[in-house]
Amino acid sequence: MPAQRNKTEDDITAEVLQRFGETPDPRLRQIMLGLVKHLHAFVKEVELTEAEWFQAIEILTEAGRMCSDKRQEFILFSDTLGVSMVVDLISHRKPDGTTESTVFGPFHRLGAPELPAGGNIAHLDKKGPPTLVSGRVLDIDGEPIEGALLDVWQAQSSGLYDSQDESLGELHMRGKFRTDAEGRYLVRTVLPVHYPIPSDGPVGRMLRATGRHPWRPAHIHFVVSAEGYEPVTTHIFDRKDDYLASDAVFAVKDSLICDFERHDTSIGEAGRLGIDPPFYTAEFDFRLKPSSEQGSTALDAQRRLAALGAAG
Ligand code: BEZ
Ligand code: FE
Repeated sequence: MPAQRNKTEDDITAEVLQRFGETPDPRLRQIMLGLVKHLHAFVKEVELTEAEWFQAIEILTEAGRMCSDKRQEFILFSDTLGVSMVVDLISHRKPDGTTESTVFGPFHRLGAPELPAGGNIAHLDKKGPPTLVSGRVLDIDGEPIEGALLDVWQAQSSGLYDSQDESLGELHMRGKFRTDAEGRYLVRTVLPVHYPIPSDGPVGRMLRATGRHPWRPAHIHFVVSAEGYEPVTTHIFDRKDDYLASDAVFAVKDSLICDFERHDTSIGEAGRLGIDPPFYTAEFDFRLKPSSEQGSTALDAQRRLAALGAAG
């Protein structure tokens, strides 16, 4: 049959689908066919103009140029469009008693120091109220997991992550902690604050143009992993925060909200660590399930992405 010349919009879609239909790997075939189908439908539905198409290319180009080991504009797009949380919810559909996950975000960095129980991740932050976060890492039967690793990161009380703070030449507000024989961990930090996500790039322009605010409720990030268990990437959120109901990246889950309690007299671990009141404490137990024999996990993908940024 001679090649068809005057193609219609729908002819093009059919031809692209037919060519990707030859993809040998069945999962890749499914993804490519779905992508083309929905992308073409979107372009046709909004009747994208040529000027708008060029603008989209400019936006993606700028996003790519902004990416480094300290900035991940594509994750920010995915998060603010709600895509990261849809992927998260699909990946963890059944409530199975394990700690719920939430977005990874763009601010994880490799190389956080391993600290002893009670180690201070906020040693350079003199403004935030001292805070102790403690709890246990347990399996689904409630048995302690010894030697679990908690990779913790948090914004400073200024609302900036270390990578956004030009006055800092070192990693800050990051640490790795191991659980003891009872599965216990203890992190010293400062009270988390709400902060705006970076808005000096295309994601910020999208939020402003659409009348959205950039704020995230106060939280602390954790990736909790242990040999033989499925790792969890999550946050704990402060129950008192004003932005719990309108997180810019849609990442709040009820089970991750906890109380940061203020103390005006010295008690318990705070006294032993020489922390003067007022200070805050929060308690949160993490629960992990045994790992299934999957190949690549989300944690592997996160490490690859971090290495990609670091190599840039
Ligand atoms: C964060 O919590 O670090 C974060 C998550 C998503 C987008 C921006 C920041
Ligand atoms: Fe954060």
